[in-house]
Amino acid sequence: MLLQLTKDEERILDGEKGEGLRKMMKLIVGLATISGAEKLIEIESAHISGISYQNIGDEGLSFLEWLVEEGVHVSVPTTINPAAIDLYQQGYTHDEFYKKQERIVNAYIKLGAKPTLSCTPYFLDNIPSPGSHLAWAESSAVIYANTFLNAYTNKESGLSALAAAVIGKTGYYGLHVDENRKPQIAIKVVADISSSLDFGILGYRIGELVGDKIPVIVGKSPKTIPERKQFVAGLSASGTIGMVSFSNNLISNENRIDVIEIDNKEMLNVKSRFSSLDVDIVYLGCPHLSLSEIKELAILLQKRRVKNGKSLLLYTSISAYKIANEEGLVRIIENSGARIFAGACPVFNPSMYKGVIGTDAIKTAHYLKATKSSQIAISNTILLIESVTEIR
Ligand code: F3S
Repeated sequence: MLLQLTKDEERILDGEKGEGLRKMMKLIVGLATISGAEKLIEIESAHISGISYQNIGDEGLSFLEWLVEEGVHVSVPTTINPAAIDLYQQGYTHDEFYKKQERIVNAYIKLGAKPTLSCTPYFLDNIPSPGSHLAWAESSAVIYANTFLNAYTNKESGLSALAAAVIGKTGYYGLHVDENRKPQIAIKVVADISSSLDFGILGYRIGELVGDKIPVIVGKSPKTIPERKQFVAGLSASGTIGMVSFSNNLISNENRIDVIEIDNKEMLNVKSRFSSLDVDIVYLGCPHLSLSEIKELAILLQKRRVKNGKSLLLYTSISAYKIANEEGLVRIIENSGARIFAGACPVFNPSMYKGVIGTDAIKTAHYLKATKSSQIAISNTILLIESVTEIR
């Protein structure tokens, strides 16, 4: 069936409400049409990625500023992903890069988005109601929302999430439709999984194996926030799927689907692609640290200090940073010699730190290895902290 638009939607598409809205509607309608949607549906919220200047460049910046001039405004609660740098702390204020990054964030503020600058909007800034339809970009947040929060969202691009935020609607296709959320392949996990890093590696391997098929995972499921975050980030780094489901048993014979097994050998295979060198800089907070994780790190760092020549860099959202600051946690962390950045992403950061990078996030490892040819080591959070700090 062809896409049916309401009279109001047609008027926007005909440009009656301005060129900015027309362009946004054209994108929504184009995507809905090629995806076979019959109608547009209202969304509860949007989350936009592609905030980093490194990512969208001058072209993206000009487009955003053009939308502002056109008087375009979001029509649903909208949050945004991290920027390349922490605009409030890093002391880049005279850089061209800083100025352009600041203009991007300012343009989003003028468009009506909340400057949350976080890839974990589901913690504090943009918590979906169960069963709600969303238009979220940032693939790890999409998988988190679909898998753990009972929300419905496709994996939007930064631009399509912006268009949906403005129109307040998206096409009814893909993961918005119950029928399309059924498992198409089973992953039986027989590997030993004991840490959030293990869950990150498991997610990464599943992403590589399943292609575009939604998997049901049998045998293991992430329970804690760090485990869930690393699992979805691993999946998002290596794969294209927007959700997974979990089961205690393999699906019955009537619904027979292919089964792939993941054992310890498979897990070691992924680990062996990254170095085990001594690290100089440790990045934690991909996806962004939650407030409870910051609390745990502050407790750990209370009696430790960063060793000479080493760096410990933590990344979180603006909202979590503000609360952590009020509660004195930022001071404890910084007293140890570690740094905590708000609203920035370690991957898109034009870093001033040099050396072998250690991370507990397979997603950071994957992207830094691919984009910066840095030497990367992956390890557990505690081991990484112990490697760059000492007891005071
Ligand atoms: Fe977030 Fe950047 Fe990692 S956006 S998920 S911290 S790559």
